[in-house]
Amino acid sequence: MAQMEKSSIAVFNSNDIYPISADSTMPFQQHRDIFYLSGVDQEESILLMFPDASEEKHREILFLRETNEHIAIWEGEKLTKERAYEVSGIKTVYWLQEFDKIFFQLMTEAETIYFNTNEHYRQSVETETREDRFIKKTKEAFPAHRWAKSNPILQRLRSVKDSIEIDLLQQACNITEKGFRRILEFVKPGVWEYEIEAEFMHEFLRNRSKGFAYTPIIASGNNANVLHYVQNNQQCKAGDLLLMDVGAEYANYASDMSRTIPVSGRFTKRQREVYDAVLHVKKEATKMLVPGNYWKEYHIEVGKLMTEQLLKLKLIDKADVQNENPDWPAYKKYFMHGTSHHLGLDTHDYGILWEPMQPNMVFTVEPGIYIPEEGFGIRLEDDVVIQEKGEPVNLMKNIPLEAEEIEELMNA
Ligand code: GLY
Ligand code: MN
Ligand code: MN
Repeated sequence: MAQMEKSSIAVFNSNDIYPISADSTMPFQQHRDIFYLSGVDQEESILLMFPDASEEKHREILFLRETNEHIAIWEGEKLTKERAYEVSGIKTVYWLQEFDKIFFQLMTEAETIYFNTNEHYRQSVETETREDRFIKKTKEAFPAHRWAKSNPILQRLRSVKDSIEIDLLQQACNITEKGFRRILEFVKPGVWEYEIEAEFMHEFLRNRSKGFAYTPIIASGNNANVLHYVQNNQQCKAGDLLLMDVGAEYANYASDMSRTIPVSGRFTKRQREVYDAVLHVKKEATKMLVPGNYWKEYHIEVGKLMTEQLLKLKLIDKADVQNENPDWPAYKKYFMHGTSHHLGLDTHDYGILWEPMQPNMVFTVEPGIYIPEEGFGIRLEDDVVIQEKGEPVNLMKNIPLEAEEIEELMNA
């Protein structure tokens, strides 16, 4: 509210519940912005903020789908006005059917309306969201108001985590750790990728996670070289490596881990060489996640680290580097994705990438080397919190990472 213009209203909508077919639906996933601002994790909710409202009770309002004892029998427990206040700290709670009337009254007092458009750098949305419908309707009903965008404010707020958020991210990482330790005992030649996925899911659910924070990648052998491999339907063969990119959610916060392990419990000499190269880049990259650094320059520096390693591994040679296209450097042949993204309520969380890094931003670090001609790909990924001074804190420091430790645990 402190960052809003004078005499302005901001509105945040829940996500829709998406239909599948007939009367079935996808499980509800709350829009992260209304959840971040209010803690309300329920469909058809609206948060309205109007810091200059003449009536104090209208400075922040929640509109919720009406519930009562009768509705509760059919629909299960929904937020009552009292419970909504406990969850959000917002005193004024109205039922949804009052929205149009109250919104009209408040809009006559306001000059500007903040719309919550999706400006995420990787967004690609084909459906019309509740936010979209609200924007359309409001522009038509109030064409003389000024419009503003709330997204940059939310991007900045959400990218710097409060300590309670870091605790929740830590809990998500701890659940991921339990899953990983469990599968280290489970993986052996002959197991199927989906069986490993099931082991993770079991461990996540029994630790009060709702499940995977994103679609898990369980990729043995050459499947690891398909970056978005999510079929997870192949058998793990002796001698293969197994790349897993898996994270538990907890309280709507995401963890995001990648580990690569030998199906037979021991790395070959060559696998180990490449593994240590990825690990080296990961450790050195992590040191550069400090306040004041820029995401783009950081990626250029990581590219240099990776180039050095690929030369040592003889995957590229000096001529490849000398003749490289600056827009697609030689190292990209074996490492073609980014090294770090913000992490939080969204796996690829908010954060304005052309602004400097700040303390309490949370980033992944995830270099990889993918070698289809050798039948394996390796990615290692941890989640870290930028500190005021010194190296970031690794939320995954207890998740086995060194090759010796992985081999020891797999052969225990
Ligand atoms: N699992 C998605 C990512 O690593 O970015
Ligand atoms: Mn990942
Ligand atoms: Mn990631």
